[in-house]
Amino acid sequence: MNNEVLNDEFLKSIDSNYEFSNKPIRRLKKSQQPGEIKLQLENLKKQIAEIDACDLKNHANQLVFSDGNFRSKIMLVGEGPGQKEDEIGKPFMGDAGKLLNKMLAAIDIKRESIYITNVVNYRPPNNRKPTTAEINKYSKFLYEHISIINPKILIIMGGTAMEALIGNNFKISKERGIWKDVIIKGKTYLSIVTFHPAYLLRQPDQKKYSWIDLKEIRKKINELNIIL
Ligand code: URA
Repeated sequence: MNNEVLNDEFLKSIDSNYEFSNKPIRRLKKSQQPGEIKLQLENLKKQIAEIDACDLKNHANQLVFSDGNFRSKIMLVGEGPGQKEDEIGKPFMGDAGKLLNKMLAAIDIKRESIYITNVVNYRPPNNRKPTTAEINKYSKFLYEHISIINPKILIIMGGTAMEALIGNNFKISKERGIWKDVIIKGKTYLSIVTFHPAYLLRQPDQKKYSWIDLKEIRKKINELNIIL
């Protein structure tokens, strides 16, 4: 039997979906330069600004894109802008933002040292929760945003962020505080779901669980030697 027949027989005998390629494997990925990241973020912001037929955009004052350090290894995703954020143009500026700053400070994180964004980038009218259709519409931008920032830890704050990144058939009370692998655009991100500060303002008795999650986040930052 010649080699070709042998190879053919062999390939048929294994149930595989392998693709054979002559391309060399890129074993080392060059880390992105800050200028490239900035450009990608500007491009993404432009794409969001060009969204049309959107009820959220039509009612809002401005696009709320992000805040913090775009080179951070920690990325936090909230729900959507409220009144203060819509006025100022940055996420987490109102009462929930003040509590978020305190929560981060409690585990020795300065807000400026992480990167913060929301699922939807325009304020929902009367601060209502974004609908599933709206979450889906903005998710593609969020996925791109996460890919650009490429964090080592993704903090998913509240039910809306959980719906966008994990799915809508989960209960936050069950999912919070557990490290998860979330796959976005083919890449796995170490992620944790925790309560949203706006929820904690309404339900202060839940802060004890939030504190457990925050300590877990600090532990992971130390384990991974992440410098903030
Ligand atoms: N709540 C959020 O989820 N995001 C903000 O930016 C403000 C409040």
